[in-house]
Amino acid sequence: MITLNVNVDHIATIRQARGGNEPDPVLAAMLCELAGARGVVCHLREDRRHIQDRDVELLRQVVSTKLDLEMAAVPEIIQIALKIKPDMVTIVPEKRMELTTEGGLDVAKDVQRYSELVSTMHSAGIEVSFFVEPEQSQIDASKQAGADIVEIHTGKYANLVKEQDILQELEKIKNAAHYAKSIGLRVAAGHGLNYRNVLPICKIDAIDELSIGHSIISRSVFVGIEQAVKEMIEIINSASLIR
Ligand code: PXP
Repeated sequence: MITLNVNVDHIATIRQARGGNEPDPVLAAMLCELAGARGVVCHLREDRRHIQDRDVELLRQVVSTKLDLEMAAVPEIIQIALKIKPDMVTIVPEKRMELTTEGGLDVAKDVQRYSELVSTMHSAGIEVSFFVEPEQSQIDASKQAGADIVEIHTGKYANLVKEQDILQELEKIKNAAHYAKSIGLRVAAGHGLNYRNVLPICKIDAIDELSIGHSIISRSVFVGIEQAVKEMIEIINSASLIR
């Protein structure tokens, strides 16, 4: 059964719009867990545009499922991760001007550097996931670097419009997921997934977990966060009945 990790960054985005205390991503995380999420994700960006250091510290204290800290592989954030000790870190590329994470990490370009990062995290008891494109070379490089898990980037799939293009990208994601599984990695997928496009991804049986943020937080504005999480879990679970 695929499990859902909910990214609470955009609760913090709303809070930061006014610079006050609400809404609180920590409370959101607790409600997500109550609704059945099996993990909470937050991205502490170098520019601190949404999640703040205080959020990560408090999330570490309250999250009882799994805390996944998304982060760039930069010294400042690595030090914070080592201090706070999330259950897992997901390493992503980060560009200052981007609206959201654009593209996967190029692990193959610097396997040595990423191996050192994995060793550092493992010595602190933190699992490591690399956010990569659905490409064999990146999955091989992640395995070589010692990753526990790869998160396959579904952003391109989510943005495509033509049926044929969507099916082609889906096939790429499926092959990448099966390949990663076959070489002993756990497999996650995420970015741009929503209530309409998630089902075909859930039918890929090599995928273990999903990381979803924006669509759930958007829906929660209208139906409440517990309801929004439950509706997503219902879709995810329905995939196992029709695989
Ligand atoms: N996975 C990764 C690595 C991400 O960077 C993001 C965006 O923060 C997500 C998943 C969630 O994407 P979305 O908010 O589009 O669901």
